[in-house]
Amino acid sequence: MTSPATAPATATEAPHPAWLPPEAFQALGARRVLLHGDGPLVDTVHDEVARACARHGGRVERTAAGAVDLVLALRDSGPLPEVVPAGATTAPDPDGGPLGDEGFLLARSDGVTVVLADAPAGLLYGLFHLVRLGEAAFTGEQPARAHRPALRRRMLDHWDNVAVHPVMGQVERGYAGGSIFWRDGRPRGDRDRLRAYGRLLASTGVNAISVNNVNVGPTEALLLTERLDDVAEIADLLRPYGVRVHLSVTFAAPVVLGGLSTADPLDDGVRDWWQSTTRRVYARIPDFGGYVVKADSEGQPGPFSYGRDHADGANLLAGALAPHGGVVHWRAFVYNHRQDWRDRTTDRARAAYDHFAPLDGRFADNVVLQVKFGPVDFQPREPVSPVIAAMPATRLAVELQVTQEYTGQQWHACYLAPWWHEVLAFRPWGPAERSVADVLADASGPGPRRGGDLVAVANVGDDPFWCGHPLAQANLYAFGRLAWDPRLDPAALLDEWIDLTFPAATLDDPALVRETLHAVLDDSWRTYERYTAPLGVGFMVNPAGHYGPGVDGYEYSRWGTYHFADRDGVGVDRTRATGTGMTGQYPPPWSQVYESLEQCPDELLLFFHHVPYSHVLHSGSTVIQHIYDTHFAGVAEVVAMRDRWARLAGMIDPAVHDRVTERLAEQLRCATEWRDQVNTYFFRKSGVPDARGRRIH
Ligand code: GCU
Repeated sequence: MTSPATAPATATEAPHPAWLPPEAFQALGARRVLLHGDGPLVDTVHDEVARACARHGGRVERTAAGAVDLVLALRDSGPLPEVVPAGATTAPDPDGGPLGDEGFLLARSDGVTVVLADAPAGLLYGLFHLVRLGEAAFTGEQPARAHRPALRRRMLDHWDNVAVHPVMGQVERGYAGGSIFWRDGRPRGDRDRLRAYGRLLASTGVNAISVNNVNVGPTEALLLTERLDDVAEIADLLRPYGVRVHLSVTFAAPVVLGGLSTADPLDDGVRDWWQSTTRRVYARIPDFGGYVVKADSEGQPGPFSYGRDHADGANLLAGALAPHGGVVHWRAFVYNHRQDWRDRTTDRARAAYDHFAPLDGRFADNVVLQVKFGPVDFQPREPVSPVIAAMPATRLAVELQVTQEYTGQQWHACYLAPWWHEVLAFRPWGPAERSVADVLADASGPGPRRGGDLVAVANVGDDPFWCGHPLAQANLYAFGRLAWDPRLDPAALLDEWIDLTFPAATLDDPALVRETLHAVLDDSWRTYERYTAPLGVGFMVNPAGHYGPGVDGYEYSRWGTYHFADRDGVGVDRTRATGTGMTGQYPPPWSQVYESLEQCPDELLLFFHHVPYSHVLHSGSTVIQHIYDTHFAGVAEVVAMRDRWARLAGMIDPAVHDRVTERLAEQLRCATEWRDQVNTYFFRKSGVPDARGRRIH
């Protein structure tokens, strides 16, 4: 089934302020502020501070006149104002190194808080850092500390269609109403909402966005040429918040837009077409970010049609973008989507590595190979993609899904930061070596522009709460913050989000609100995992909309996502010894750990191995008993979430409370359906009863 529909927003409805309600600016807005520097982003900072001060009694000036509590200053805008205490600038910066385009230095000395930056974006990020700190930014002495983003590009991909797609609708895999950019083939024209969106993004550190679906239809293709003005308008609205606009393009553009007879990447005419088209894009949008491309994937055109490989394809677009400083995000999601389950040699999980690892070193410097975090498709549990360790000479982006396609479609509360944190902290070469986050942050590779990106498919629509589920705002928030600093702790990020979204000063019992939100969200991803597909096997969703259970929904289809359950056992044999050999795509120690039935972690067992139901896990339970136990436990946890939430009635905004209550009721219904379908299925297949004698429906 598809998930229940979200009620459409009415035109006049102002969206929920999310994590930037006016009260979140109270500490800042009560201060005497000096802003030193010029430029459009500095004007944005000024507007933010001025609005906060007008509300909370402070004042903001651009030239020093009297005592101040806070200075926000660009270091290269002439000598620093005298009110900046010497201690704030001379204190050693423990992190050393330049601040760069987006970093800032924060210090407090002699009763003055100081934010210094070398570029306007740094001031903007410094401002939102102060908002997060609240009163803590204005207490005590604080030695200078540098803050810089770990990753260069922190990006959201919108899978928004301009024209409504007959199957996928206005937003592919969107669960928050319509698109904030497009409606029925035209720009939506809601400038206030786009500005508000840019502001929310900037406050988390997101600095890039692509504005249309990776599956590029005929109307969407035109954004590159005759409808470029529509893109430029979005760029104008997001620019004041430091967010650059990117565009998904079709590889067949020279044919479908340019009237050429080929899109062959090695054809001179094709190269000229991309160069001149890209020149026109930059003439209109000088800070345009670049192209996003899904090629030779699920029916999209690509270089394979011309007997070329993906380095040829990506380098073609990179060549057109390079003179303007743009990048191409080339997706590694390439696989055969016309499989036969009887063919045990073809393995979708192998595909990205098999296609791309041999191309390492051949990509131009401004190609970013965008790799889904797992080898299959955004499942609630998968191993980390082996591509990440296989391409040391290629710039990478890891792609996450903030939109909850496979994690409850924003009807289920599922806080994803713990999952993303696990992915980013994974060490592909073993415990003593670098993590995925380190790989992305590493700017020391060959070529002038190494260092990778974190990208996620966006979860926002025209829903009054932005995300359908008000608590799904926490996922958007946490994504931006993790992209800024992947080492941040998910529970601490939830605290930040709670403090901003539910300011203590507006609540009678802030401790109860915090405690309840943690109780509902902290472990919600694992709860979701417990009542859905077991032990990493994935894809037991309903094929119609990827919502709710469909244990055999994909089992005999062409998509290559099988669990191979039969009367004796379940799981996919991906070992080198007897299976597809995918374990061999990992470097040691993981190639060994995953190969070995004894060492493979329980949560990935069925991803890598086909085992009998009686197989005993590290936990001591058999596979079949684990399935029963986790599914009963998962539903019980949702009941507890619902009951905890009910206690907040009358304590927070009733609209938020009602919406979450409605969603939790649906989550419980759906989780129960998952439990019963999965348990019944495996009971019938295996014939093994539940050791605890519970009723299996
Ligand atoms: C998933 C999703 C598709 C999407 C694809 C992609 O398969 O279901 O809707 O197009 O991922 O990432 O390109």
